[in-house]
Amino acid sequence: MTRHDDPLFQPFTLGELALPHRVLMAPLTRSRSAQPGDVPQAMNVEYYRQRAGAGLIFSEATQISPQGKGYAFTPGIHSAEQIAGWRRVTDAVHDAGGRIHAQLWHVGRISHPALQPGEALPVAPSAIRPEDAKTFISADSGMVDVPQPRALEAGELPGIVEQYRQAAENAREAGFDGVEVHAANGYLLDQFLKSGSNAREDAYGGSLDNRLRLPLEVVEAVVGVWGKARVGVRVSPTGSFNAMHDEDPVATFGAFAKALDSIGIAYIEVVEDSFQGNHETGRPEAVIDAIRGRFAGAYIGNGAYTADEARQRIADGRADLVTFGRPFIANPDLPERLRSGVALNEPDYATFYGGDEHGYTDYPFLEARD
Ligand SMILES: Cc1cc2nc3c(=O)[nH]c(=O)nc-3n(C[C@H](O)[C@H](O)[C@H](O)COP(=O)(O)O)c2cc1C
Repeated sequence: MTRHDDPLFQPFTLGELALPHRVLMAPLTRSRSAQPGDVPQAMNVEYYRQRAGAGLIFSEATQISPQGKGYAFTPGIHSAEQIAGWRRVTDAVHDAGGRIHAQLWHVGRISHPALQPGEALPVAPSAIRPEDAKTFISADSGMVDVPQPRALEAGELPGIVEQYRQAAENAREAGFDGVEVHAANGYLLDQFLKSGSNAREDAYGGSLDNRLRLPLEVVEAVVGVWGKARVGVRVSPTGSFNAMHDEDPVATFGAFAKALDSIGIAYIEVVEDSFQGNHETGRPEAVIDAIRGRFAGAYIGNGAYTADEARQRIADGRADLVTFGRPFIANPDLPERLRSGVALNEPDYATFYGGDEHGYTDYPFLEARD
């Protein structure tokens, strides 16, 4: 296959963004913000600058408020210092010819009083403890169990929507090209979407329409700031990470996709495979059909893709674009490597979360750069 007809290296227009190719960088928490304050710092600038060759970068999940934080050392986008830190990141990516969306994150019940303002309990749609879910509260204590959360009062929900709206404004100020609403992997909006974590009896739970309500209000608020062409949503319909379960992912995520289509956002990114490794069950084709059949915007596939599988899925019309996570951790120049078919560096799992430049900005490029 020549570069000319390689499906991965065809340009794509995502909303208002012209992407040179389809190899995108997935959102990747690396837990290396400056302390105190959870502020993006120089090594983060360098890390993203190195990866500016991605068709589009999705930033690591970024907490929209102090309440939205669930892990030590993750960056936020709610203080002036954080916005200034992100501005240095986006400037570096743009100067290197790249594009970057911010992934907006509220963890909901996946947190701990040690991380919450006033040592409060984490909040969730319902007071259901995610069994076996853990979080990371400090370098000393390592991974700890998350407690039973407090159910949000209906009167608090407009405040949650406002946290997202404000964070979307902050992302504009920080120079991002758009935003991705994180509704995947067992965090707050996923907790509202899925039947296993949402047992509310008000307008925000129970029926399928009710479970979609808060995530849709959030998307509307973010679109109000950015316009629909600069907004996408990430979902993980069949993901079980963080003790998640939905009784009917085809119905839930088909309906969500239809509602997102009415709003007219640019894309849905779908985690099709758990990075904890459920590859043997295959990609959830029925859910993918349900989403693609109801959503006219771009479909971005994610999860344990190889270059060849990504090519095949794009060629078969199963995805428009693909995000790569772990391969981008270990290969800052991943698109160049996939284009030329050379070997990839292997990621070092021990340095995924926290630490310094080692395992972060010191993975080798194909050739020395100037
Ligand atoms: C170290 C690490 C951090 C991650 N952080 C995030 C995150 O911040 N937001 C998110 O939506 N997914 C996150 N994920 C999931 C990845 O975006 C992706 O879905 C997963 O790694 C599967 O893709 P891959 O097989 O290409 O790595 C993370 C995964 C890893 C390995």
